[in-house]
Amino acid sequence: MAEESLQPIRGMSDLAAPEICLWHALEQTARDIMSAYAFQEVRTPLVEQTAVFTRSLGDTTDIVQKEMYRVLDRGGRELTLRPEGTAGVMRHVSGLGQDGADARLYYLGPMFRAERPAAGRRRQFHQLGAEAIGPATAMADAEMIALQAHVLEAWGIKDFVVHLNTRGAPDDFSRVTEALRAALAGQRHTLCADCQRRYNENPLRILDCKVEQCAEQVAALPPITEWMGAPANAYVDEVLAWLERLNIPAVKNPRLVRGLDYYQHTVWEVTHSGLGAQDALSGGGRYALNMAGRPVEGVGFAIGLERVIAVLKAQGLVPESMMPRPDVFVVSHGDRAAEENLVLMQSLRLRGIAALMDVRGRSVKAQMRAANRSRSRFVIIRGDTELAAGTFQFKDMDAGSQAELDMPALMNRLLPGPAHAVANQAGDE
Ligand code: HAM
Repeated sequence: MAEESLQPIRGMSDLAAPEICLWHALEQTARDIMSAYAFQEVRTPLVEQTAVFTRSLGDTTDIVQKEMYRVLDRGGRELTLRPEGTAGVMRHVSGLGQDGADARLYYLGPMFRAERPAAGRRRQFHQLGAEAIGPATAMADAEMIALQAHVLEAWGIKDFVVHLNTRGAPDDFSRVTEALRAALAGQRHTLCADCQRRYNENPLRILDCKVEQCAEQVAALPPITEWMGAPANAYVDEVLAWLERLNIPAVKNPRLVRGLDYYQHTVWEVTHSGLGAQDALSGGGRYALNMAGRPVEGVGFAIGLERVIAVLKAQGLVPESMMPRPDVFVVSHGDRAAEENLVLMQSLRLRGIAALMDVRGRSVKAQMRAANRSRSRFVIIRGDTELAAGTFQFKDMDAGSQAELDMPALMNRLLPGPAHAVANQAGDE
């Protein structure tokens, strides 16, 4: 019988060394910056009731219609693997009552969309997202765009472009919808089948269609901002003015609509020319959602981590160079020495020194090979002879030097600066 292939599902993959080191570095930088803006982490479940997403993202969006992983649990309940983070965070915030009124929350984790995998498009991907709850003000929106630019810059992303637009104030929606229907009415029958349906259900979604015949017609339309009232246009101009004040370059792109229905007023997307067809590093905007009868308003964004990593690699970053090196590899010769070396290794680790040794009883030669492979900075060799003499052979692998040291001298070499005092005590024990 042929071996069953148990590979990850297409568009999903394991994250492991050396690349995981880059993920850790990005995550740590993100957490530090989120703290500087007074955001707290929230970890919502990866699976929610389907209604959490259908009610918030919009029934007519591509995500809800084509891309959600829906599953039935054993009780026959309809669940969905989260395709994005905002809906779950809003569900969380709506349960906080008054405490949620000015919540500032961020999240880091996997999202799932049943899309056709392609470069930059995965079925499991990761987002860093942030959501600031509160009423619509241009200043709040600009603050979020500043936070997002801060994170991207701190990660070392160069030359990203922030595109900004407005989806209009709530009372613009019906005017924009009707104007779009009127503008497309003549060519309606030439739209793709999906867009003919969208024409009735939600014509705004036609503006996102990737089918060529639709895209051509969309390009000929005036930007939707022309059908909005003055307040929406004034609002987005005020966001731009704040960004200018904060020295954050942004371009107004009146054709940007974004693929989710919860937005109103400001929307934005960050693109990078190094990414190819899927060129959005990040997207965000202001939204108003109704979760379990409770309205929640806020502004937020989510950055796609796989795409960030693709840009960093294209800029020359090599994850291998980020692999941490152990400080010490301890080589043993003889059973007594191995026993004592295990104790030594543990005490080094308790002092924060990254140490490892062979625990399989291999030959000294095999241990030395393992020490080299581990890229350890130092190698300590202690056999039964050294044990009797109270000494260690100490190799500095970078300097290529070797010395015989006693315990205090060894600790002096391994522990930096003021830790010597403690180390010397340890050596005296
Ligand atoms: P989104 O534009 O759907 O927005 O996704 C944000 C980012 O996630 C994209 O710009 C992209 O970098 C990444 N991304 C999306 N889909 C994929 C995929 N299939 N493969 C790889 N990366 C992907 C949202 O998710 C909103 N929740 C953002 C938001 C937060 N708006 C307000 N608050």
